[in-house]
Amino acid sequence: MNIVTNPKKIQEITSQLNDDRIRIGFVPTMGYLHEGHRALLKEARKNNDIVIMSIFVNPLQFGPKEDLNSYPRDLEHDKQVAIDEGVDYLFHPSVEDMYPSPMSVKIKVQRRTERLCGQSRPGHFDGVATVLTKLFHLVQPTNVYFGKKDAQQLAVVQGLIEDFHFPINLVAVNTVREEDGLAKSSRNVRLSEIERKEAGILYKSLANARVELIKGKKDIKDIILQVKDEIETNSSGKVDYIEILTYPDLEEVKERTGSIIVAGAVHFSHARLIDNIIFEL
Ligand code: PAJ
Repeated sequence: MNIVTNPKKIQEITSQLNDDRIRIGFVPTMGYLHEGHRALLKEARKNNDIVIMSIFVNPLQFGPKEDLNSYPRDLEHDKQVAIDEGVDYLFHPSVEDMYPSPMSVKIKVQRRTERLCGQSRPGHFDGVATVLTKLFHLVQPTNVYFGKKDAQQLAVVQGLIEDFHFPINLVAVNTVREEDGLAKSSRNVRLSEIERKEAGILYKSLANARVELIKGKKDIKDIILQVKDEIETNSSGKVDYIEILTYPDLEEVKERTGSIIVAGAVHFSHARLIDNIIFEL
């Protein structure tokens, strides 16, 4: 496996690969890799000639009170995962490599961000879209792989690719979960032992909401209250939001057909967890 830190260098490599018509599968990450990331890498390995993964904890997507400095990191472990999953190039730039000077142009996401994490993390998706624009130009991939775990991010990336005409195919990968349903996340290590036992309730309560909706229950506000109550009664977590919206536009559900997302975010003492279920009504 090749490790590249310099943005110009990775772009030279991918330009040559593109000239040679070699299909590049790209998996952008912030590292501290787990089974969820592995699922994206496996999917990328299937349908491309070359797999490139980036590991970059992007300061632009963290708010001033968020966990940029304490975001978990373990490059040695990540390198081994990358080798195991058949990554050809690991792109691991420093913050200075990616942002040598304050940016003169940034991307501002204008749709699909009023609700969910967009509301509780102002500016977060602008930071995500900005770094991905840079990464897409550097890696020039044929296919990119994103997890449904971050469903709002996926919706934003879909908009970014369409609006800016990136010649890239977006592949969405199912959420990988622990046995009790908890979605795998780099932040799960920050749960205490007790919190870890409680945390499965987030997925379970979202799944219950899905059942209610499929059964035809009309009162969405009531379903949301039920989910909040279930989480706060069965755990020490504090609900940030529970929402039921259309997907991928993330608007209020008016018609009872089409794609629906039931999504939630819960604060534990040192970790904010998110999860969602997307399904057809
Ligand atoms: P990160 O949180 O490292 O996630 C990288 C990718 O892994 C994302 O597409 C995410 O949805 C996916 N992922 C995380 N947990 C998963 C799980 N349990 N099952 C399936 N996929 C999962 O998301 C980011 O990094 C950043 O915002 C990034 C896109 C790299 C931009 O900085």
